[in-house]
Amino acid sequence: MSMLSHKSPPPPCAIVIFGANGDLTKRLIIPALYNLARTQLLPSSLALVGVDHNKKTSEEWTGQLKDFLAQVLAKNNEEIDEMLWRQVARSMTFLSGDFEKPETYQSLKDLLGELDEKQALEGNVLFYMAVADRFFGTIAGKLGEAGLVESGGSDNNKKVGFRRLIVEKPFGHDLASAKALNACLRKWLKEEQIYRIDHFLGKETVQNIMALRFGNGLFEPIWNRDRIDHVQITVAESIGVETRGKFYEATGALRDMIPNHLFQLVAMTAMEPPVSFDAEDIRAKKAEMFKAIHCLTLSDVVRGQYDSGIVGDEKAKAYRAEANVSPESTAETYAAMRLMIDNWRWAGVPFYLRTGKRLTKRYTEIAIRFKSAPLALFRETPVDELDADWLILRVQPDEGIRLRFNAKRPGPAMALESVAMEFKYKDYFKQAPAVGYETLIYDCLIGDATLFQRADQVEAAWDLVAPVLEGWANTTPRHFPNYAAGSEGPSAANDLLARDGRSWRRIS
Ligand SMILES: NC(=O)c1ccc[n+]([C@@H]2O[C@H](COP(=O)([O-])OP(=O)(O)OC[C@H]3O[C@@H](n4cnc5c(N)ncnc54)[C@H](OP(=O)(O)O)[C@@H]3O)[C@@H](O)[C@H]2O)c1
Repeated sequence: MSMLSHKSPPPPCAIVIFGANGDLTKRLIIPALYNLARTQLLPSSLALVGVDHNKKTSEEWTGQLKDFLAQVLAKNNEEIDEMLWRQVARSMTFLSGDFEKPETYQSLKDLLGELDEKQALEGNVLFYMAVADRFFGTIAGKLGEAGLVESGGSDNNKKVGFRRLIVEKPFGHDLASAKALNACLRKWLKEEQIYRIDHFLGKETVQNIMALRFGNGLFEPIWNRDRIDHVQITVAESIGVETRGKFYEATGALRDMIPNHLFQLVAMTAMEPPVSFDAEDIRAKKAEMFKAIHCLTLSDVVRGQYDSGIVGDEKAKAYRAEANVSPESTAETYAAMRLMIDNWRWAGVPFYLRTGKRLTKRYTEIAIRFKSAPLALFRETPVDELDADWLILRVQPDEGIRLRFNAKRPGPAMALESVAMEFKYKDYFKQAPAVGYETLIYDCLIGDATLFQRADQVEAAWDLVAPVLEGWANTTPRHFPNYAAGSEGPSAANDLLARDGRSWRRIS
């Protein structure tokens, strides 16, 4: 895993973006490349090729992306630095072509040959599939047929450098489709050439979970079933489905969030210490952890769908009244589950996960609840209950770490109160402007796969949720909609923890 500020520029290379006119390219990839230019972390020689079926010249493409970049920067009251932009812009070439047509790949091959000749790119190419998932297999196959992804060998006596492929999300929509996509990619590429992105892993605070756990002697001795009562992971959103009704109808909250984002947070929290920060060592520990998770049953999960309500000060409509959503939709906009990890460290410690739309507030956190101290000492005092100690890792917003513990309230009586010590990243570190893709793109350029998912991990995650997806597909959810927009989710989610004598932290 790279630490951006201490790194040197990646080797010369071409980056080919499929979906050059798409939303991801405009809003995230180009701003990320611009931010890499700020920190002098673009390849020393770069050719940026955009492929898309909308016809335009390279100048038009560059001009449009500059306008979008200006909009992105304006959100932080920033203006484009012309010199930096020129660094990115001078590398850009647009190639009009259809992803499904072989001639697109022939033209791409010719263009890459020319650019390599001109710019001495050492044959290195990073292909970025910033396209809808239905194209992932097609593009990989066509690149393969055109001989564009063979790396490290020789091609017409010319040296071929690295050939890497970034695959965006979603990676499959169930176990069978994830396996099929993996098989399709593996037909043409070796595992080490494939970078499956989960942009959650690009977040500094997610990477910092490892720094906190393994960079401090303090936590490891208490990071286990002897000291920890349970863990709660929350990814709450206050927005509804907005314009993504069609996507959500086919996907739902579980597929959209749990096998990728939430399971990655579980992995970061629960994995054993790796022997090094080498990608394969970390991935091996994550894989071990996934293997130890108990099979899920329908009694371990809860689904919900939002009704109308008030979010903040605004009225919000019910999910079933959103655009492109069926008035009788059974798609879940909320999912909660209880996971048990059957290994030496975590046996008997539940991990409760929840995610949903139209909840009270937007935030992502991992909350670790420690076992309570024995009450015996306070027998003769007014204290009749001890609050639990919590360590809360806030991933977004207000990234930071909070420790809640009991302190004596000043005064003659022995009365306790739960207090907090707080660390906020923004108070300590000047954060470089970032859209969250900088580290991920940089890591691909230097060939560090730590923050990317390996084939077996993706399949293990889908395998775990498979019984739930199947069970839900075969039973009509009763009581949908079952939570008001702006609330903390369905009451059944409270019952899930109440069964174990526990309760969720408030979403507030
Ligand atoms: N957008 C985000 O914020 C975001 C965030 C995280 C991940 N992602 C992932 O990133 C990927 C891309 O998302 P996106 O929102 O950028 O999609 P998008 O806006 O639909 O971009 C895809 C681009 O490919 C073009 N295209 C479609 N079919 C083509 C074909 N047969 N040949 C050549 N070009 C074609 C589209 O043109 P037309 O539109 O004219 O057809 C469009 O310009 C998806 O996998 C998504 O899940 C997106």
